[in-house]
Amino acid sequence: MTSHYPVPQSFLSNAFLDKQRYETLYQQATLSPETFWAEQAEQFIDWQTPWESVLQGDFSDGRIKWFSGATLNVSYNCIDRHLPQHANRTAFIWENNEGDTCKTISYQDLHDHVCRLANALTSLGVAKGDRVCIYMPMIPEAAFAMLACARIGAVHSVIFGGFSPAAIASRIDDANAKCVITADYGLRGSKTIPLKHNVDKALADNDCVESVLVVKHVGQDIQWQQQRDHWYHELVDAQASDCEPTWVEANHPLFILYTSGSTGTPKGISHRTGGYLLYATMTHHYVFDYHPDDIYWCGADVGWITGHSYLVYGPLANCATSVMFEGTPTYPTPARYWQVIDKHKVTIFYTAPTALRALRREGDDYVTQSDRSSLRLLGSVGEPINPDTWEWYQRVVGGNRCAIVDTWWQTETGGIILSPLLGQLEMTPGSVGKPLFGVAIDVVTPEGKPVATNETGLLVLKNPWPGLAQTVHGNHQRFIETYLTSFPGCYETGDEALCDEAGNYWIIGRVADELNVAGHRIGTAEVENSLVQHPGVAEAAVVGFPHEIKGQGIYAFITLQANQQGSETLKQSIKQHIADHLSPIAKPDVIQWANALPKTRSGKIMRRILRKIVTGNTDDLGDISTLADESVVAQLKADIIK
Ligand code: PRX
Repeated sequence: MTSHYPVPQSFLSNAFLDKQRYETLYQQATLSPETFWAEQAEQFIDWQTPWESVLQGDFSDGRIKWFSGATLNVSYNCIDRHLPQHANRTAFIWENNEGDTCKTISYQDLHDHVCRLANALTSLGVAKGDRVCIYMPMIPEAAFAMLACARIGAVHSVIFGGFSPAAIASRIDDANAKCVITADYGLRGSKTIPLKHNVDKALADNDCVESVLVVKHVGQDIQWQQQRDHWYHELVDAQASDCEPTWVEANHPLFILYTSGSTGTPKGISHRTGGYLLYATMTHHYVFDYHPDDIYWCGADVGWITGHSYLVYGPLANCATSVMFEGTPTYPTPARYWQVIDKHKVTIFYTAPTALRALRREGDDYVTQSDRSSLRLLGSVGEPINPDTWEWYQRVVGGNRCAIVDTWWQTETGGIILSPLLGQLEMTPGSVGKPLFGVAIDVVTPEGKPVATNETGLLVLKNPWPGLAQTVHGNHQRFIETYLTSFPGCYETGDEALCDEAGNYWIIGRVADELNVAGHRIGTAEVENSLVQHPGVAEAAVVGFPHEIKGQGIYAFITLQANQQGSETLKQSIKQHIADHLSPIAKPDVIQWANALPKTRSGKIMRRILRKIVTGNTDDLGDISTLADESVVAQLKADIIK
């Protein structure tokens, strides 16, 4: 039985969208999309010069242009245009890892920091169109770096601070970056992360990066390369605090962000300037119901798309006041989030189910010892939130006073696509609600036929919207093949979903070959490719399994080299190898030794069977007519690690 909760009256009475307004906007967007997007573009963005056309192109070859011919600058929209009225408004309240330092950065401060850094980048030879990699902890300089790139038309590529040197190297190489901005070390809870050291290792065989700019954050020793490395404070502080924005055409790339692919190498998802900014700004305004007196906290790291759209670009373009948090939810105690909420009187809080599950496990006392009466809206993103956790979020964290938005979207979509509360009077735990205006959704069979109400199928989007990525960096063909080929005329999300009789959508999960571990998208191929680089490993297959905290865990079946004996030490060494070469978040939770893997006669690993084995769901293995050796399955079942 699906339960429903009323949206609190206190929320509805002041919300931007009521049922009628949502429906009016949805209708307008559907009937006359170009007029609708032109109106939104005028409302939310300042353009330097006007567009010649709102939309050009379609999904047939994915060569789509939004607001073609118009020029704008993202940092101008996020900062300068607010200065005449709101120079003293706080843009960021930065809360450090330890909880003993808190910095307040006004829009005027932000302007000065960003301009100095933009001038510093120019002095290093970075120009419009050049790529800059940002590998930073959650410190204000990470946002300055993104905005400084945007100010001069350079294209940033933020690499999550949890990635290891090999993963950094492949991203820097693929982007052909000219400059890297990093810090000496990062802090996350009790851990110190050697960011500069990781960059040094990643650049060992690199020939595109000319300079590395290093923020002195922790102050411990690092190695230094005279010609290449520059201290941020030495170079940046000496610059002028004014820098004329570089006006770029609306389809000029704003950033690249790598996301896992089902075929091994990560894809550099490239977002355009104008359409992306419009979509992030408009969705931030409506979905979070952002009002000027709100204190908004998006807990996502800048290394992920959520940090781009809803920590930096959307909120700043709306002149919001945001909390930026360096720490982790459980450091120094599991009360940390709730203390930060009280300290800064946070009204809107956006986090991921994995954090909520981890905090819920610690018991309610940590939550209830705090006040939290400032909260009015709670958001969730990144993976399905199970109804139990939703109810806990609503009752214990929100004290039954808050509206809850479970938002569905992807790196590629640029901003939120599905969300509850768009004028609804009820909230349904576990459902991601309704489509935003201007997006048309369907759930289809593998042949592309719409499925019936309440039936599971593949989620597709049927028309272009301004937030959609424009290409895969350097490989438009991959963009077409990954997203636009299976269902001609549609964008394929790669998620399974269903739509209920009330028109609310429910996300089941990724279709194949991609895991969602603690909200992080991880390609099974990426993990397997890294596993087989361990000297002891001959062959590896990776599948997901249900995990209480992380949503999905990683289960690896490993066939060892002939000279190797399976042991606990070897398992630890393999896990460490993944942490060092890919990322600690991609470490397998379980490793099972396998004499052989189930394969088709043509030698393809049948992961479908492995998935059934790890979930104990082996009564019906499906079609196994192509399985080369059935005895392999019996052995794997017998050895399963519970
Ligand atoms: O499977 C969906 C899941 O996360 C995927 C996108 O991951 P990424 O590109 O890393 O972006 C994450 C942040 C937007 C989706 O294909 N996902 C995201 N949000 C939800 C979700 N699954 C269920 N419910 C959500 N609210």
